[in-house]
Formats: sequence, C-alpha cells, structure tokens
Amino acid sequence: MELRPVSDALGVEAVGADLNALAPDEFDAMYDAWLDNHVLLVRGQELTDPQLVRFTQRFGELDDEVMIANALEWGTQEPGVLVVSNVVEDGVEIGILGSGEAIWHTDMNFLEKPTKASFLLALELPPTGGDTGFVNMELALKTMPSELREKIEGHSIKHDASTDSSGYVKEGFEPVTDVTKTEGAIHSFIRPNTETGRETLYLGRRRNAYVVDAPIAESEALLDEVWKHTLRPEHIWYHQWQVGDLIVWDNRSTMHRRDPFDPNARRIMHRTQVNDTPRPAA
Ligand SMILES: [Fe+2]
Repeated sequence: MELRPVSDALGVEAVGADLNALAPDEFDAMYDAWLDNHVLLVRGQELTDPQLVRFTQRFGELDDEVMIANALEWGTQEPGVLVVSNVVEDGVEIGILGSGEAIWHTDMNFLEKPTKASFLLALELPPTGGDTGFVNMELALKTMPSELREKIEGHSIKHDASTDSSGYVKEGFEPVTDVTKTEGAIHSFIRPNTETGRETLYLGRRRNAYVVDAPIAESEALLDEVWKHTLRPEHIWYHQWQVGDLIVWDNRSTMHRRDPFDPNARRIMHRTQVNDTPRPAA
C-alpha cells in the first residue's frame, strides 16, 4: 500500500490497499494520513455491507442511531448502512438525495455532536456528473486574512436543522422565515479537531445560518465574506467516482457538495458514519 496525496488542497489515496485484508500497521498509516489529509480515497474495493461496517468501525463507534429515521426507509439489511441513490424501483425511491445538486455542507452540523467521519462506497454510477467536491476547512482557516479572522474569533453560528443537503425542507420542519429563531446546535466558528486538536473553521451550511447575537444584516455580511474566502479554488478538490471507490471524509475539518447528474442514469452509493468517538484500540 502506498499513500499518495490527490491534490494540493486535501485528500490522500491509499493505492494498492485491500480493506478486507489490512494489516494493523497499514491501517495505522492510513488513519494518520486520513487525519492529516482530511479525505481518504481507496479504489477498487468490493465490500459487502457487513465488510463496509467492519471497516467503518475501525474509525470509531458506528452511528446507527442518528440514521434510524433515514435508515428505516432508506437503509439496507445492515444496520447503519444507508442508501444514497436516485434509483426508483417499483415506484419507490430506494435511497436519499436523488440526482440534484447537493450544496456545500458538513454532515449533521445541526447536532451538538456532529458525525466524526462519513463513508461513501460507489456501487453504480452515471456515465458523467455526480462528482463530489471537498473543501479543506483547516486550510481555509490558515489562509484567512487576519482582519477576517478577528471578526469571527469568539463568535458562534447557529446551525439550522430544517433543510437537507439538497436544500429541501425536511419533514416535521417549517420553512425558515427568521434566521434568529431556527432550531439547531450552536458551534464556534473556530473549533479544535476533537482528535488532533488542530483548529478548523466550522461553517456547517450557508442556508439559514446565523451569527449568534449579531443583527441579521451583519450576520449575513460576515457569513458571506467567510464563505467567499472558504470556497477559494485552492482549498477544494473534486473527486470523479469510479465503481469500487470508497471515500472517507473527516467531517470535522471538511465540507462537501455534489454535482447533479442525469436523473435517468442510475447512481447507487452505500453510506455509513461514525460518532465523534476516539478510534478504538486495534
Ligand atoms: Fe453529506
């Protein structure tokens, strides 16, 4: 196995790794590279759902609870494995997120303790489209002009829970008309990574975000300025999927988005995630 960076911004590929036959020292190296590079890519994997879960659990505690609401409808036989797909079988959608754009976000940012790591395994892909972008939030903080950093230091964002990553209002929520009154967790702009301690910018998602205690116009202006800086191309890497690709992103230090794709083409991914718990001893 060889660990190779995939871009100047973030991401590392474990070339020649077999996730079903990974020696402990190989996993140690892979895990450290993941922490340092924020996104891990492993190509050519044939993993059953139980095998995907076993690999997921090497990173931390499998999150099979927060996904229950989704998984009841969109899960697989394997607890904790969610289907991300646009495919409709017998008139029923088999997974979540459809074929549209998924806007920049961090998973589960509206919770007090968001997901630590998210996993996506590509099983079926459209001929084009559906690329996934990742932005390095640690780097975005590092490159932030000091005048801008001063404006966010000590301040927090309220993370609205009402929309999904396609931007649609979730069941049980009303469309937001006043960003000061949204439901969701409050997180500091600057947070330490719970494992490395390195500070990272934490934005969650743009829609309905609110800088706590600021007048709305000021909150909007500051968020716009921070987002504009964050989404500079040199902070971003786009992945073009191949069947058998597994990607793991550090959800504490990245955001991601997805390009739309032809709704008539099929795309099926299996998805797991882990709680923000330490890596278990091997
Ligand atoms: Fe996501």
